[in-house]
Amino acid sequence: MEEKDFAAHLTATMTGSALTMLIGVGHRTGLFEAAAEGPATSSELADRAGLRERYVREWLGAMVTGGIFTLDAGAYTLPPEHAKFLLGETSANLMPSLLTLSAFTGILPDLERSFAEGGGVPRSAYGPYLETLGAKTGDSWKHVYREHLVDGFFGAVPGLKQRLTAGARVLDLGCGTGNAVAVAARAFPASTFTGLDINANVVEQARETAKGLPNAEFAVGDAAELAGEFDVITAFDAVHDQDRPDVVLRRIRGALPDDGLFFMVDTNFSSDVAKNVGNPLAALCYSISLMYCTTTSLAEGGAALGAMWGTETAREMLADAGFRHVDVLDSPRPQNCIYACRP
Ligand SMILES: C[S@@+](CC[C@H](N)C(=O)[O-])C[C@H]1O[C@@H](n2cnc3c(N)ncnc32)[C@H](O)[C@@H]1O
Repeated sequence: MEEKDFAAHLTATMTGSALTMLIGVGHRTGLFEAAAEGPATSSELADRAGLRERYVREWLGAMVTGGIFTLDAGAYTLPPEHAKFLLGETSANLMPSLLTLSAFTGILPDLERSFAEGGGVPRSAYGPYLETLGAKTGDSWKHVYREHLVDGFFGAVPGLKQRLTAGARVLDLGCGTGNAVAVAARAFPASTFTGLDINANVVEQARETAKGLPNAEFAVGDAAELAGEFDVITAFDAVHDQDRPDVVLRRIRGALPDDGLFFMVDTNFSSDVAKNVGNPLAALCYSISLMYCTTTSLAEGGAALGAMWGTETAREMLADAGFRHVDVLDSPRPQNCIYACRP
């Protein structure tokens, strides 16, 4: 990159960070909902949201020049084709991810100290918004499950939907707030689903999510101590964060019969950073990995695989755990892939 292009690149990077923070402000003050009601001047929008016009006007300045709102003859508009990425109950809504990013700013001093002194930032340091990342991840994933779990994810593995339709014992490891279990239990009433998570708060929410489903249950427990037998074990975005991923993968293998299936959804990158150059999602995922996955694991003396552990490392670890047949398949989300693992 030439010098002047690099300066422009850094300026665009700063703009992205600043807009991410102000999008969080807009979410928490109700400005996006108010704007979705239709075009408004800054005074009208401030009145709609019950806020001070001077602040709203400056915020709108950032939103318009940042390409999020449009401005026409004094009226600010949040176009519907933009609103669907900031509001609403669909997987297109990126607000949970935007909020997660801006919430990381609070832990940066602890992270910087860990660079120098070692150790890491404990999960308890992330403040109320991120205290239960399982819950926040659930916010992002719940619509993904509703729209894509049955056909997009399960449908990618030949024979899996038929097996679940016939009736199978399924464990969802690191189930978070139970959104995958609830969708699957509804779609496959002949199968039984157990959600397991180490965090009692998210398990409580999971029980609420799957309330009334007779074939769904939840347990608080450590996957590194997994026992029992299941036909299918699923793990959605829950293996790379494990403090002892090697132990967990061996436990998973031990809990499956020889015709069992381990269905793991994780990030879709290479273990070799050089191969990730040019991937438009890589810098974001390395950043999240550093600010959460890696440091929280190091705080517990864990393996700190990080979110960018990559398919090569994943394949090696799955083979070490006793999975001799591993297919890596495309998922409905480009940042994730599916590992269909068989003994
Ligand atoms: C990134 S979240 C994914 C949650 C869920 N699968 C979803 O899609 O919403 C990872 C989850 O793994 C759980 N977890 C981490 N370590 C665990 C362990 N050793 N045993 C069980 N659950 C664990 C966390 O509490 C968290 O809820």
